[in-house]
Amino acid sequence: MKKFIAFEGLDGCGKTTQIKLFASSLKKVKKDYYITREPGGTKVAEKVREILVKKGGGNFSSITELLLIYAARHEHLKERIIPNLKKKIVLCDRFFYSTYCYQIFANDISMSYLNFLHKNFAFNLLPDINILLQIDPKISIQRSLKIKDIENRFEKKSRTFHKKVSKGFEIISKKKNVFEFDGGAEINVLHRNIIDLINKKNIFNFLLPYAV
Ligand code: TYD
Repeated sequence: MKKFIAFEGLDGCGKTTQIKLFASSLKKVKKDYYITREPGGTKVAEKVREILVKKGGGNFSSITELLLIYAARHEHLKERIIPNLKKKIVLCDRFFYSTYCYQIFANDISMSYLNFLHKNFAFNLLPDINILLQIDPKISIQRSLKIKDIENRFEKKSRTFHKKVSKGFEIISKKKNVFEFDGGAEINVLHRNIIDLINKKNIFNFLLPYAV
C-alpha cells in the first residue's frame, strides 16, 4: 500500500496550489502519484459534489449533507483511491477531517455518526498524513469568494459557521497524523516547509526534493 496524503484547511487556504507543487516534487524523483479531490473524484461523486457545493443549491438538513458526502466518499474510495493506492501515492484535496470540521463540529452533530459512517462505508481508511494549511477565517472567505462564483454554497454560510469550522481545524491540528502549516506564508516558502517536514518525518523511503 502506497501513502495516502490529504490536504486540509479552510476554503481559499491554498491547498490546490500546494498539491500541484507537491506532485511536481514527486515527479522530479519519478514517483507515480494520483491527484484527486473530495467531494468528487468519480463521475457519480462529482454529481453529488454539484448538489453539495453549487451556488443556490438551497438548504437541506445537516444529516442529508453528511450522508451525501459519505455516498460520494464510498464511490471515490472504491473506484479510485483504493485501486490507485496499490501502485501510486494518492494526494487528495480534502478528506475525513473536512467532514469532521464542516459537517460534525460546525453543525453540532455527534461524532459517533461520523465514526459509524467511516467504519461501515469508507473502509475505515484514513490518510497516512494530513497536511493542514491554517489561515484566518476572515481571509479564507474573502479569498474564496473572489475566486469562486459557482461552487460557493459553503462560503455563503454564516460567519458563525465559518468560525466553528476554523475552530474544528484547530482541534484536529493536535491529532497525531495532522501536520499544521501557516497557509499565509509565501507559496514557495510554504511548499518548502511541507517538503522539509515530510523528509524529517521519513514519510517516504526516499528524500523528496523541492519543486521550486
Ligand atoms: P474545495 O473544492 O476543496 O474548496 P476550496 O478549493 O475552496 O478549498 O471544497 C468544496 C467545499 O466542500 C468546501 O467549501 C468544503 C466542503 N466540504 C465539506 O463541507 N465536507 C467535506 O467532507 C468535504 C470533503 C468538503
